[in-house]
Amino acid sequence: MPADLSLLIPGRARASRVLLDHDLADLAGLAGGRAAIIVTDGNVRRCQGPRFPGWPVVEVGTGEAAKTLATVETLARALIAARVDRRTLVVGLGGGVVSDVTGFVASTLLRGVPFAFAPTSLLAQVDAAIGGKNGVNLDGFKNLIGTVTQPEFVLADHRVLETLPAAERRSGVAEVIKAAAIGDAALFTLLEADVDAVLACARPAVARVVERAVRIKLRLVAADERDDADRRLLNFGHTLGHAVERVFGFSHGEAVAIGMVAAARVSVARGLLARGDAERIERLVRRAGLPAACPPGRWADLLAAIEVDKKRVGGRQSGVLVRGIGEAIVADVADGEWQEALA
Ligand SMILES: NC(=O)c1ccc[n+]([C@@H]2O[C@H](COP(=O)([O-])OP(=O)(O)OC[C@H]3O[C@@H](n4cnc5c(N)ncnc54)[C@H](O)[C@@H]3O)[C@@H](O)[C@H]2O)c1
Repeated sequence: MPADLSLLIPGRARASRVLLDHDLADLAGLAGGRAAIIVTDGNVRRCQGPRFPGWPVVEVGTGEAAKTLATVETLARALIAARVDRRTLVVGLGGGVVSDVTGFVASTLLRGVPFAFAPTSLLAQVDAAIGGKNGVNLDGFKNLIGTVTQPEFVLADHRVLETLPAAERRSGVAEVIKAAAIGDAALFTLLEADVDAVLACARPAVARVVERAVRIKLRLVAADERDDADRRLLNFGHTLGHAVERVFGFSHGEAVAIGMVAAARVSVARGLLARGDAERIERLVRRAGLPAACPPGRWADLLAAIEVDKKRVGGRQSGVLVRGIGEAIVADVADGEWQEALA
């Protein structure tokens, strides 16, 4: 069922629209007669190009390796060559890499041109395209350069997920599990029933879980756009997850899954979460085809990676723990607690 949600940041005059279970064909109407340019990557264009509206298309490279200042420069030049001006709508049509790079370039080019997203990965539909954070990596550090600027609208067409590779679907499911664990016990139960249908991209199941996950993100971003308080809850599974990603080379979704299971164990050890609920999280992670643990050893490397992350955020890198499924808190987690949870 199509859903028309909105994100209104307090003090801002205009809300950003979030249209879920809509059709890529609706993009033309949303542009309202303005000139528009699509930014995408080669995979998305190959799989979904025939469904793109008939606007000029600019490609960026695929994958995390494309999130660089070099891509920013290339994209800015390509948009200028395509005659972008302050009225042109720039539409990032792709996964999280496309939306992060497009949002950054559009929010800085000509000191800001209007932009929108049509997210094509599950992760981008529930997470990356929502909330206005954008940016690129620098010297191995993720998202070191960027802005927080809300897109004019986000339009998610769930049919595009049919061409998304299975591993990418699992990565997206990891973020849906995260959203459920921190903010919506009913979504968690829904996922326990429907995870296979979501992985198979059955549209009603996808539409149901995406809408609930997006509502959680919208709620947290509206309360804390710049990530000083509530929005940090979205880092559930990410503190340890980033370290696991860096040290073992797991994909982001896999690493977040391992991080969530470990954070659930810390939550049990602190008496915040019932053991049975931690087991539910681990079971759901495994049913989604995601790993629940990393290979033993390499604790020193993991600790060093956590430290590097801490330095990046000025010594402040807290963990997120769950207090029952559907409710989370930010907490200082000692290194030893992570180590124990991984043992
Ligand atoms: N801005 C935010 O708030 C936020 C939040 C979470 C993640 N992110 C960022 O998002 C990025 C990850 O996003 P992602 O997982 O979408 O990665 P991605 O953009 O690299 O997409 C994953 C892969 O799937 C392909 N793909 C995407 N849609 C497809 C489709 N419909 N059919 C076929 N192939 C398709 C892409 O070409 C790519 O190879 C990371 O860089 C992360 O930092 C940002």
